[in-house]
Amino acid sequence: MTAPFSWTYPTHIAHRGGGRLAPENTLAALRVGRHHGYRMAEFDVKLSRDGVAVLLHDDDLDRTTNGHGPAAARDYAELARLDAGSWHSAEYAGEPVPTFEAVARHARATGLACNVEIKPCPGRDAETGEAVARLAQRLWSGAALPPLLSSFSETALAAARHAAPDLPRALLVDAVPADWAERLRQHGCVALNINHKNATPQVVQAVHDAGYRLCLWTINDPERASQLLGWGVDAIFTDELAAIRPAA
Ligand code: G3P
Ligand code: MG
Repeated sequence: MTAPFSWTYPTHIAHRGGGRLAPENTLAALRVGRHHGYRMAEFDVKLSRDGVAVLLHDDDLDRTTNGHGPAAARDYAELARLDAGSWHSAEYAGEPVPTFEAVARHARATGLACNVEIKPCPGRDAETGEAVARLAQRLWSGAALPPLLSSFSETALAAARHAAPDLPRALLVDAVPADWAERLRQHGCVALNINHKNATPQVVQAVHDAGYRLCLWTINDPERASQLLGWGVDAIFTDELAAIRPAA
């Protein structure tokens, strides 16, 4: 029998690994986040054409790599040759698109807690949710703190639940839907992750009263971060790792 899940994630989460300080969704970003005192990182995971889970936010390669067009049209061998660092700065030239597996190994080796955002390429929601959850279960086997899986895609969340029911899940939304409690229950989630612009003290109270955690993305103003943490939210995502510092 599995022990009940206990929420012990840090309150401060480095968005896309290292926020604005490093190329998003890379191993370099995770290192920068750690350097700034962040003990938890969020990153986005999708599948290559041949089913390898990699870190990448957009459907297309153009913004964050020197590749072009849809990521879903490339095998991993092609993605592995891309430069995912030069778009950010010369310092990171040649930084690769990492596999989810490499990132998981790095996170476990360094004690970094993870929020794995399942970000499927169009039309691959169930396949991606299942693959990422299965991998996460294997890669964090025996870990004291499992990764928090989240997605805007409820199809991906449902597939993740089916593949790895014991891993904690969060439903990602922008605005708070009227039926949020029903959706969290339906997907067996432990948390609701919303756009901080839609947070109010009443939302925080209602989510907590229902027995769930509330995480907010993406806060880049230190005063707003203090306000939201003062309301008792469970975690905030930020790009501003230098300005918004986790408690020591
Ligand atoms: O998971 C929080 C946040 O990352 C969701 O939005 O577009 O930055 O992946 P996005
Ligand atoms: Mg994300």
